[in-house]
Amino acid sequence: MNTREIFFRHQGQTSAFPLAMEIERAEGLYLYGREGRRWLDLISGIAVSNMGHGHPRIVAAVQEQAARHMHTMVYGELIQSPQTAFAAKLLPLLPASLNNIYYVNSGSEAVEGALKLAKRFTGRTELIGFNQSYHGSTHGAISIGGTEAWKAAFRPLLPDVRNLDYGVVDQLSAISGRTAAVLIEPVQAESGVTLPPKGYLEALRSRCAETGALLIFDESQTGCGRTGTFLALEHSGVVPDILVMAKAFGGGMPLGAFIASQDVMKVLTCDPVLGHITTFGGHPLSCAAGLAALTAMLEEERMAQVPKLEAQFRDTLKHPAIKALRSCGLLMALELERAEKTQAVIAAALDAGLLTDWFLYAPHCVRIAPPLTITPDEVSWACARLLECLDKDG
Ligand SMILES: Cc1ncc(COP(=O)(O)O)c(C=O)c1O
Repeated sequence: MNTREIFFRHQGQTSAFPLAMEIERAEGLYLYGREGRRWLDLISGIAVSNMGHGHPRIVAAVQEQAARHMHTMVYGELIQSPQTAFAAKLLPLLPASLNNIYYVNSGSEAVEGALKLAKRFTGRTELIGFNQSYHGSTHGAISIGGTEAWKAAFRPLLPDVRNLDYGVVDQLSAISGRTAAVLIEPVQAESGVTLPPKGYLEALRSRCAETGALLIFDESQTGCGRTGTFLALEHSGVVPDILVMAKAFGGGMPLGAFIASQDVMKVLTCDPVLGHITTFGGHPLSCAAGLAALTAMLEEERMAQVPKLEAQFRDTLKHPAIKALRSCGLLMALELERAEKTQAVIAAALDAGLLTDWFLYAPHCVRIAPPLTITPDEVSWACARLLECLDKDG
């Protein structure tokens, strides 16, 4: 059996049309396949590889930590220097009230922890999320996000969940004294990069404060410098009660976290004890990689480059087939007329050596979210290829 047969016959498939290129290695902006083929990564493994692939500092940090120790004990029992060193680097970048980090393994898991924390802290049960938000694939995460078409096959899901339309101020009155938490992305990614209208997040913050509901920001995609600031919340200045981090947070290793004030977080410590636990959360290799990625991003001053690179994409990507280009930093969606055209562009781009994608709830949009390490020359090259692909029929 060759590797292709093993992949298709013996690995669970997420769709009937995986990309299925065989990757031999990845370095910088590029993924390398067989027979010398390479693709410029315009999507960062879906907002993960913010510092590119194989960054020497991240690789060295993982190797050093692997030699020192890997897993020693379930999360929360032992003091492990990769976790504490990462926390020390991270805390000055967070709003002062978000001072207590609970490490987990992934975005979904961080969302589950955040929802449980809010229920436990408020003693309430209602959870509010937004249509076309994606927060992960676990039962809790799909209960609160998504679209009905996406959820229906998995019902019954969590009870007492409501979904509002993203960005509609009038609907915020649905948040009440029954609401434990409102979970939102400060920029909604999988709907094809939807920015909140001006004043919306502020209105949401006020409504949560009025009713005592905890506000949770999911910055899994928008965090770690992707929008030009460490967190997307810095664009509005709105501070949530709980922050979810994942994806680029682990520098290419699996890592997530939910972050709150110590006052809020401490309710998970007792009644019951061990009411929220994880074996591998905050894995030493993941925290070492996350710390190295964050240190490199700050020292290389990557966030300062983001607005210039975003502007270059925006100025260059002009084409009659583009209906809109929505962006917040290097999180961009190129809206085309139809999903079929988007699929044709993605396929043509792959042939031309460029890896792009679509969005879960916006199949008519092309995803552009390259590593923050992309250079202006690479932006020019990628845009030229994309424009050629847009010229083709489809
Ligand atoms: C905003 C957001 N939250 C949560 C998740 C889930 O993260 P994970 O796949 O690590 O569970 C994702 C994944 O795409 C996401 O985009």
